[in-house]
Amino acid sequence: MRIIVGITGASGALYALELLRHLSAGRHEVHVVVSGYGWKLLEHECGIGKGDIATLSSYLHDNENLGACIASGSFRAEAMIIVPCSMRTLAAVAAGLADNLICRAADVMIKERKNLVLAVRETPLSAVHLENMLKLARLGVGIMPLSPAFYHNPQSIAELATALAGRIMDNLAIPNEVYKRWQGY
Ligand SMILES: Cc1cc2nc3c(=O)[nH]c(=O)nc-3n(C[C@H](O)[C@H](O)[C@H](O)COP(=O)(O)O)c2cc1C
Repeated sequence: MRIIVGITGASGALYALELLRHLSAGRHEVHVVVSGYGWKLLEHECGIGKGDIATLSSYLHDNENLGACIASGSFRAEAMIIVPCSMRTLAAVAAGLADNLICRAADVMIKERKNLVLAVRETPLSAVHLENMLKLARLGVGIMPLSPAFYHNPQSIAELATALAGRIMDNLAIPNEVYKRWQGY
């Protein structure tokens, strides 16, 4: 599949990293864009830099490059995820402010009626955040709070992140068996 991954400056860079590892192993065509604070959080939380992300990407785009292929509605991406998605980027997408490549690519996914998922991270949530999420949810955008489940009894942070990455792939309609699904009592 051809997938766009936006990484912004919210906490939870590990989720993005884990998702990229699985997408890369699955031989998908992955277009990655990282915001300025996205890079800071990747470094701060995971010790990860541009070289590591480039290795896990098919294409690593500059967030300032509004002329990139993924900025156009003629580009046939099947799905886009922003993970983690900051409240700033959420607000920009909800307002249609396509002033960087992540927001423009998201804007394109909405207008082309394609699968867009925002893995949002903030706590607590204000009425502004909730209204932005509701507005986008009503347009068909997937709102996926980065709140991991514990019913699969994760033994490590890595296992938590893997399960979340699997749930994200489910929401992007990417076939995967990276985590243990609930079998019932
Ligand atoms: C250490 C750190 C953690 C942050 N965590 C969050 C967060 O979890 N959620 C959020 O909405 N913003 C968070 N921020 C603030 C965003 O980085 C900031 O709003 C930034 O403008 C987001 O820009 P972007 O959406 O272009 O990445 C954090 C900032 C720092 C420095």
